[in-house]
Amino acid sequence: MNNPPAPAIETRNLTRTYEDSHVRAVDGVSLQIAAGEWVALTGPSGSGKSTLLHLLAALDEPTSGEILVNGRNLKAYGNLDHYRSHDVGLVFQLHNLLPNLNALQNVQIAMVGTGVGRRESAARAAELLASVGLAARTKLRPPELSGGERQRVAIARALANGPPILLADEPTGSLDAAAAESVMGLFTSIRAQRDLTILLVTHDPLVAACAGRIVHMKDGRLVDESEAVPAARRLVPRPAPAPSPIHD
Ligand SMILES: Nc1ncnc2c1ncn2[C@@H]1O[C@H](COP(=O)(O)OP(=O)(O)OP(=O)(O)O)[C@@H](O)[C@H]1O
Ligand SMILES: [Mg+2]
Repeated sequence: MNNPPAPAIETRNLTRTYEDSHVRAVDGVSLQIAAGEWVALTGPSGSGKSTLLHLLAALDEPTSGEILVNGRNLKAYGNLDHYRSHDVGLVFQLHNLLPNLNALQNVQIAMVGTGVGRRESAARAAELLASVGLAARTKLRPPELSGGERQRVAIARALANGPPILLADEPTGSLDAAAAESVMGLFTSIRAQRDLTILLVTHDPLVAACAGRIVHMKDGRLVDESEAVPAARRLVPRPAPAPSPIHD
């Protein structure tokens, strides 16, 4: 019999201790997320959600424990830069876009140093921006975009190198309800199109309810898991924006 496929993300007894503050931000977390699954991570402020996400993104190192991505231990990766740019895409609450670059350039920047030429990266960025409904906004800079549009650019940038996993830390945290709903609709459609595995941190129960599974953290530990709330309470994601033709 064939072995079952490895989880897209697996942590084994993962711990991150901050020596200076004596805080166990992540305290023995063992979590499995299957390929293609969408998991929401919730919990009170300070419960360790961002720390866990940073460990999974290889932006921080665990104090102990293991992280396996598609069955491969992160410790076995020789080059974590490649992992960071190609294996995981990151979206944060504050989009971290560069204010002096336009939307197209902000997406292109994710491809710098990856061996993709300028023309190709421009074409790919334009395609990605069209897929998130921003074909007509490619020349605008972040200050000229709405909060929801900026977050769409950040999502396009996170997808630039085709990562199979998307890690998002409160991506709707700075958006109003309508923009949050629209960004969730986008997550739903890109996940379907790209077969993405998503781990999304949120404080918003309606956003969490868009996921297939909700995981709760408290004091650095996973406290319990439940199936997402019943369908009647789900936020209905808006249909994906129709891809529009790419203009120069
Ligand atoms: N660089 C650091 N040095 C010391 N302690 C830290 C550091 N970063 C985080 N912590 C502590 O680790 C704990 C978890 O922080 P974390 O940012 O992961 O929480 P969170 O669940 O993301 O909270 P929030 O919902 O407010 O974003 C907190 O007690 C925090 O003070
Ligand atoms: Mg946080």
